[in-house]
Amino acid sequence: MAKRVAIIPGDGIGKEVVAEAARVLDVVGGLELEHLPWGADYFLQTGITIPPDGYDTLRQFDAILVGALGDPRVPGNQHARDILLGTRFELDLYVNYRPVRLLDDRLCPLKNRTRADVNFVVFRENTEGVYVGIGGRFKPNTDDEVAVQEEVNTYKGVHRIVRHAFEFATARGLTRVCMADKSNAMTHGHALWQRVFGELKSQYPGVQATHMYIDALAMFLVQNPGQFEVIVTNNLFGDIITDIGGALQGGLGMAASGNLHPGRTSMFEPVHGSAPPLAGKNVANPIGAILSAALMLETLGRTEDAARVERAVERAVQAGEVTQDIGGSLGTTQAGDAIRKGLE
Ligand code: NAD
Ligand code: IPM
Ligand code: MN
Repeated sequence: MAKRVAIIPGDGIGKEVVAEAARVLDVVGGLELEHLPWGADYFLQTGITIPPDGYDTLRQFDAILVGALGDPRVPGNQHARDILLGTRFELDLYVNYRPVRLLDDRLCPLKNRTRADVNFVVFRENTEGVYVGIGGRFKPNTDDEVAVQEEVNTYKGVHRIVRHAFEFATARGLTRVCMADKSNAMTHGHALWQRVFGELKSQYPGVQATHMYIDALAMFLVQNPGQFEVIVTNNLFGDIITDIGGALQGGLGMAASGNLHPGRTSMFEPVHGSAPPLAGKNVANPIGAILSAALMLETLGRTEDAARVERAVERAVQAGEVTQDIGGSLGTTQAGDAIRKGLE
């Protein structure tokens, strides 16, 4: 039976890049795609960010593909919080899987670095940290304002993401897992990360488990990214370093991600946002969205098709049949066509 995929194009360039990913999935076949209208336009028209039964609706699909959410007409972007972060939380998608792989040496912004130097994955904790939204403002909008934003770290939450990183490494024959935190300053929350990492690493003797403070890791991502195979970190740090990861691949338009709860409905999306200045101009790079669709195929067990899509993307990149952000001259749709051509 065909797997059912919910598509949420969302806002800005999200709509354009997801259209290209959906066309790729049409070529690959065997999926039933259903579009959901949620996003800024829908919110501005109806006042609804996500309907009350929205998360239950999503759970009934085999997977979810999202473009991007965020629109300057919605100050505070509550629709993005409800749709994107809400789905991560409500569906308990605790693994944010963000591979960082350079597809062509020419795209690397680092001097004398090649594809061999940029090939690692980041596992970002995706259901807690500062994203839980716990906190408040006391005496808001006065000179006495106090703003508190709590970071939540639970044993269960830290344990399951760190374990996932080790399991992934083991399954893929990788031997290096680096955990990054800020335990030198965040002495409570990140002491928990230290304890859990210490506990788990002894269970994976075949893996070289190292620790770095997140500031040092950010520096090494630029100076010597080749040392990393698997990185595991918290929600906020993972957000930040995967934008660096995007840059290492040639730009944010190249980066893909999956929000996973192994065995359950998972959500796939490019790492980039809605890029309002680029929206509606047919210039956005669709590769991040298309590679996210490939991650989705992989997770749905369609490993061969996922690899086929990745090869088609690689071919287009190496042939220079790409958008301007990575040195080509094609529009979004034409870049999508070039990838689909490689699939046929
Ligand atoms: P952004 O990722 O939208 O764009 C930053 C810059 O990166 C762009 O101006 C552009 O130069 C480049 N870029 C990004 N995607 C590209 C693509 N596909 N092709 C070519 N260039 C690309 O980040 P931002 O400007 O900080 O955020 C804009 C809005 O998107 C905000 O509302 C933000 O909250 C939201 N956002 C959403 C998601 C998501 O839905 N997952 C992710 C990040 C940001
Ligand atoms: C991402 C985005 C989101 C995040 C924003 C839009 C809330 O930057 O998916 O990387 O911070 O997780
Ligand atoms: Mn981000």
